[in-house]
Amino acid sequence: MATHEINPRSFRSLMSGWITGIAIVTAEVDGQRVGIVCNSLTSVSLEPLLVSWCVDKKISSFALWQRATHWTVHFVDAEQEELVHRFTAHGVDRFAGIEVVEPNLEHPAPSLACAKTFFTAKTFAQYEAGDHVILVGEVLSYTDGITQPLTFFRGKFLPGPKA
Ligand SMILES: Cc1cc2nc3c(=O)[nH]c(=O)nc-3n(C[C@H](O)[C@H](O)[C@H](O)COP(=O)(O)O)c2cc1C
Repeated sequence: MATHEINPRSFRSLMSGWITGIAIVTAEVDGQRVGIVCNSLTSVSLEPLLVSWCVDKKISSFALWQRATHWTVHFVDAEQEELVHRFTAHGVDRFAGIEVVEPNLEHPAPSLACAKTFFTAKTFAQYEAGDHVILVGEVLSYTDGITQPLTFFRGKFLPGPKA
């Protein structure tokens, strides 16, 4: 155990000890699909159903996320680590070669056909938060079926517990 000098690097290292699941968030803005890996997802409210996640102002798709009216959050399964590499890859079409379900009345944002648990949210609020913006979404529809999540701990992806 050690007490560190306070700086972004050592705090990031501390927070890597907070185990999380992994989500892929997707949206379509002006006909352009965007998708990123996200572990800042949090359930916020049950009445109404609200979730939040934080988007980094430095990512190339930031301006699109600010304008996104709807988005889909997919939980990544233990066997889907490939999705993490796909949705963090730079300068490529992250959707190439995977099945995407086009926005429809039930899910008004593009979703990944391979996801067992996913939900669609409508942007409810945005809050400035330092070098990120907190996006709050109202959940409109969902499908639940994941049995073993991919988890993230100390910078490593690990299979989580089985349901
Ligand atoms: C485990 C993990 C969790 C991440 N969580 C977030 C997040 O919550 N918010 C975010 O903006 N970026 C997050 N990222 C980083 C983005 O996925 C990444 O910066 C983005 O895809 C880069 O996009 P760009 O190449 O278009 O700039 C995370 C990356 C990883 C590997």
